[in-house]
Amino acid sequence: MSKEYYIGLMSGTSVDGIDAGLYDFSGKLPLAVDFYYQPFPEKIKKQIQSLSGDHQSISLYDYGELDTELGLLYAQCCLTLLRQANIKAEQVKAIGNHGQTLYHSPSSKYPFTIQAGNPNIISQKTGITTVADFRRRDIAAGGQGAPLVPAFHQTMFRSDIENRTIVNIGGIANLSILPKDSNQPVTGFDTGPGNTLMDYWIGRYKSSVYDTDGAWAANGKVHAELLKTLKDDAYFSAPAPKSTGTEYFSADWLTEKIAKLPQIAAADVQRTLCQLTTETIAEAIQSFAPATEQILLCGGGVHNKTLVASLKQLLKFPIASTETQGVHPDQVEAMAFAWLARQTILGLNGNLPEVTGAAKGVILGGIYQA
Ligand SMILES: Nc1ncnc2c1ncn2[C@@H]1O[C@H](COP(=O)(O)OP(=O)(O)O)[C@@H](O)[C@H]1O
Ligand SMILES: [Mg+2]
Repeated sequence: MSKEYYIGLMSGTSVDGIDAGLYDFSGKLPLAVDFYYQPFPEKIKKQIQSLSGDHQSISLYDYGELDTELGLLYAQCCLTLLRQANIKAEQVKAIGNHGQTLYHSPSSKYPFTIQAGNPNIISQKTGITTVADFRRRDIAAGGQGAPLVPAFHQTMFRSDIENRTIVNIGGIANLSILPKDSNQPVTGFDTGPGNTLMDYWIGRYKSSVYDTDGAWAANGKVHAELLKTLKDDAYFSAPAPKSTGTEYFSADWLTEKIAKLPQIAAADVQRTLCQLTTETIAEAIQSFAPATEQILLCGGGVHNKTLVASLKQLLKFPIASTETQGVHPDQVEAMAFAWLARQTILGLNGNLPEVTGAAKGVILGGIYQA
């Protein structure tokens, strides 16, 4: 059978780098063919963080330059991936690019979300049709524009024999609740911070971009009062549909909460932030998916041993990685954006109204022809 190749590009709120995956959709389920990861150069990472992080005003010039620079970088990742896989551009139907979120504001008076990384450049440099700007169409249809991965999770991971909940722990964490009864709707939402606050906190004290294996957090103790202060935030008890970003769960957010309390040892804060992530995920599952029979984890948070151990302690359900279902946990989102691009190319809806709150299912994204 002839292959049906799509590329998925994902760079999330962790601002760690770009995941580029090549997938073959000619079978019943997509198959991973090759994968390339490009960490962000430090300069670009700083630019993204300063534009998106803390409500800073930015110049349009800076935004314009970053949009071009990211477009070039995404294109370069695709070309490297194709070289690595020994596949020609003509063989690829389309690229799905999430883009780099600079600001996500789905609940304001005039809701908006901004992803940078000019798709015209990706299409021009690779010679491959590029689909991008997925989220704004869902917002236009009255949705949150997020999370968009649950529709893909449904295709890839839903089972007829067990209720599954997918937990994606990126910068922000999100759930997809997949009932085994196909008459029941798939639901999902952002639970709150995943790794973003832990990444920020360790970066303040050590020369690491993340807490490798959760080792530093493992040296600390949960600070009950800080945990309560953090969990009191209204986001956690707000009803779904809901989505959030690092402009909300920012360094400022944390600094403001910590300032209310006496001095706390830095490692204890790290452990408490890890507990914030796991308790808010666990409580969301207990409240909205109590019939879960299998939890599947993906996203970079799966590598944090302290975090996974804490989740296992908080939840009685069996917990495994998406790897057990054939998708590496670091590749789920890139595969999701390849899938979303294919939906758009085929004229099929990409959002789930029950998840995002949109008035109806819509075809997402803009198509930038090769
Ligand atoms: N070995 C590790 N130990 C602990 N945390 C890790 C490890 N590897 C990755 N991570 C975490 O995963 C994050 C990247 O996850 P990712 O799924 O790419 O998130 P996003 O979709 O937001 O980019 C890193 O910023 C880091 O917090
Ligand atoms: Mg990432």
